[in-house]
Amino acid sequence: MTKQLPTKPEDTAAGSAVPSGYKNSNLTAAKSNKNDEFYTQWPAIEREMNAYLEYNPDVFRDKVILLPCDDPEWSNFAKFFALHFTDYGIKKLISTSYAADSKPSDLPYEPTLFEVEDPKFDADKTRSHGKKFVLEAKDVNGDGVVNIDDLQWEYLEGDGDFRSAEVTALRDEADIVITNPPFSLFRKFVAWLVEGNVKFSIIGANNATTYKEIFPLIQENKMWLGKGFAKGDAYFRIPESAQNTYAAGVYDPETQLVHFRNANWFTNIEHGRRHEPLKLMTMEDNLRFSRHKEIKELGYRKYDNYDAIEVPKVDAIPSDYDGMMGVPVTFLDRYNPDQFEILFNADDMEQTKQWGVEPLGEKRVADYYAAGGTGGNSKGHRKLFLYSPRPWVPYKRIVIRRKVTS
Ligand SMILES: C[S@@+](CC[C@H](N)C(=O)[O-])C[C@H]1O[C@@H](n2cnc3c(N)ncnc32)[C@H](O)[C@@H]1O
Repeated sequence: MTKQLPTKPEDTAAGSAVPSGYKNSNLTAAKSNKNDEFYTQWPAIEREMNAYLEYNPDVFRDKVILLPCDDPEWSNFAKFFALHFTDYGIKKLISTSYAADSKPSDLPYEPTLFEVEDPKFDADKTRSHGKKFVLEAKDVNGDGVVNIDDLQWEYLEGDGDFRSAEVTALRDEADIVITNPPFSLFRKFVAWLVEGNVKFSIIGANNATTYKEIFPLIQENKMWLGKGFAKGDAYFRIPESAQNTYAAGVYDPETQLVHFRNANWFTNIEHGRRHEPLKLMTMEDNLRFSRHKEIKELGYRKYDNYDAIEVPKVDAIPSDYDGMMGVPVTFLDRYNPDQFEILFNADDMEQTKQWGVEPLGEKRVADYYAAGGTGGNSKGHRKLFLYSPRPWVPYKRIVIRRKVTS
């Protein structure tokens, strides 16, 4: 079964993939419920942060780190960074949580003993306000170490929405923002990060790479994919109330985790994998030795309406071709900016227009319908087309070109 990170209302409205991880009967409910409660596992955080540290051991040194959309009482991000506060040399760690009353109403809420036993506890605010937790290089409880027990907390003025003035002020104080943001607000969250001009590392759905608002950032090397989840397998803890939303094989009752194959880290922090060149064969060698039948049999075909070659698999990109190449979106996972440049997203008709992709035209539309096509192709359709295996079905590709090194 394909396991998909649920695509949320904001994203679904913009036409992204249907979340196949849901049981069909619950799909609509899951979408309208804004199912945003997915808790990140410690090993996933550790793996990603280690990739940044391997590249730059001082990446977190003297930095203010903000973890919004979090909650150290329940989630691993604050625990992880509090544990590493001293060895990473962090200057200040701030975590903010989102108010229970602002979350879907079917989520049970119980304040922790930590909060209830604190003199600051307020029986009303605990539900309606977000909280802010701060750790600085101060051994507040005098036990000889600075760790999670030294976290200071207070209620926020509002509900902890990342877009609020007070959380935005924390963003402006921060050097780095790290979290797994609500999937339903991914685009808005990225826009908020970009506006704040901060370093960031966040989790999102793979298909976000081609969103209109996200792709240009990747294109301009303002954002890239992180090291990613081990073998592409992402696991999240979910609330009990959401467990029956998932089909068997996605939610495992034993581990109480959901398993997605389409989640990834998005970041603007350097890591080594981004600079590893893709190991590729020349076009000639591919044509002789490729393990892909279509390359051996069909070669590298030029699109009918654009001067670029169709490359059906990332490992079949020819190392010595200087022209434009249409490659699968999964290329982004292996994209090395020293090796290639990303020109445009061939699935985005504004971009294909800018890049001079020829529209389908009446003749091809007629071919398409004559061959039994039912997809509503129009003569103005500007994507990348080949006649076979099916006439004029667009290829979902991004167009790249080899970087010429002087
Ligand atoms: C995907 S969960 C991740 C939780 C935690 N950061 C983790 O990774 O374990 C996103 C969290 O953001 C909260 N949230 C939803 N909308 C929010 C908003 N507008 N502002 C801040 N947090 C929000 C959700 O309630 C949820 O707890």
